[in-house]
Amino acid sequence: MEHDQTPPDQTTPDTEAAGQADFVVVANRLPVRLEDDGSWALSPGGLVSAMLPVMRERSGSWVGWDGSDDGEAQRFEFEGITLSALALSHQEREEYYGGACNETIWPLFHDAIETTQFHRETWAAYRTVNQRFADAACAELAEGGTVWVHDYQLQLVPRMIRAQRPDVRIGFYLHIPFPPLELFSRLPWRAELLAGLLGADVIGVQTQADARNVLYGVRRFCEVDDLTFAGDGGVVRTGRETSVVKAFPISVDYEAIAEQAATDEVELAVKELRKELGDPKHVLLGVDRLDYTKGIDLRLKAIHELLMEHRLDPRSTAVIQVAVPSREDVQGYDSVRNRVEQLVGTINGDYGKLGRPVVQYIHKSLPFSELLVLYRAADVLLVTPFQDGMNLVAKEYVAARVDDTGALVLSEFAGAAEELSEAFLVNPYDTEHLKEQIAAAVSMDDEEQRSHMHAMRDTVQRNDLAAWATAFLALLSIS
Ligand code: F6P
Repeated sequence: MEHDQTPPDQTTPDTEAAGQADFVVVANRLPVRLEDDGSWALSPGGLVSAMLPVMRERSGSWVGWDGSDDGEAQRFEFEGITLSALALSHQEREEYYGGACNETIWPLFHDAIETTQFHRETWAAYRTVNQRFADAACAELAEGGTVWVHDYQLQLVPRMIRAQRPDVRIGFYLHIPFPPLELFSRLPWRAELLAGLLGADVIGVQTQADARNVLYGVRRFCEVDDLTFAGDGGVVRTGRETSVVKAFPISVDYEAIAEQAATDEVELAVKELRKELGDPKHVLLGVDRLDYTKGIDLRLKAIHELLMEHRLDPRSTAVIQVAVPSREDVQGYDSVRNRVEQLVGTINGDYGKLGRPVVQYIHKSLPFSELLVLYRAADVLLVTPFQDGMNLVAKEYVAARVDDTGALVLSEFAGAAEELSEAFLVNPYDTEHLKEQIAAAVSMDDEEQRSHMHAMRDTVQRNDLAAWATAFLALLSIS
């Protein structure tokens, strides 16, 4: 592979304002996206809404990438916070983002559902780009400040910041699963990655299993003075450094979702949608990034078999599948799209009528206001990933079910299953069980729906997004 050593254009950093932020978030993506007219708009999403209030309160700065390979490094103010945008070259985008992040770490950490690629040159790009994020964060951080690094794209960053800035508190949060030792051990750079994480004072993960997996990796591959398993995590000590590893299941902004979902506007839109669908008895919904980890294909296969076996009636059932385009030039994404679209075609060909397909398939990203209408219109939400860090769609659905009705079919391999035990839990690899659970969810009576949904709503309300951020930052401030 040819190596382009030319760094992308860098604008001169605004040195006067640099180093002033008490609180810095470092994430692969910026919390804004570039609109067609050249202006920046806030990206929707949980992390952004959880972080913005904290950042505004504490003179915050966000270091991230705009997703392009022709952007400019720049620093600017946006709605009360500073944004420090990194630029990546075309080659860095391919090797760091396409290669190391999404053809190595992503499949490996998701149980190697897709073949994992291990390439020295893409790992070199991962290292280089992580260093750029770390340098940019250090330039933002005020003396004694706090930095919160996010997700699998930036696992070397905590150590890189620690090396330059022993004065700051460093938190790291992994949004995807951390794999069991047998899988993690395959990574040629396993010790380097763990040393990267151990640069953080607090390493937060989604589930207790993830926390244990991090600690098993550290015990096997790192030289540490002391490692203790405790509660839902543990503590690692080396010299004067201490890292706490702990599960902090991420959540959604329950109150905001519930409030918006209860408006007359949404109610009206739900009625209209159900009418357009032909007033079906059952509306089944899936909302996923079009990713091979999400199990969209197996879910559609189960629906097809239920239709063939007359356990679902095509005359009274509507299925909506929203598949948000994602990582289209990364290995594995093209083939899952083909499988999904073939299944949609087969189901509609076999069971649809003219002007009335059984599966309404949408291959685009929808505004949250439209998703809310779908959540409220759907009698059953199908969340069937093979492996998923948390799955916030499941929690959004629960928060949106303001009348306590509805049923959730949830993979036991989604982090959300640890909390939402009242869902119809499924092993998505077991098609017969998946079919049974979908059929049971469809036929659940009102009273049962209310008791299950009420319990799940209560859980999400108590452990909402603000509680998640507060708990993590509280531990970071004392660690
Ligand atoms: O949760 C995993 C994650 O990779 C996030 O980091 C990211 O925001 C989202 O999925 C979308 O992925 P991408 O940034 O690769 O489009």
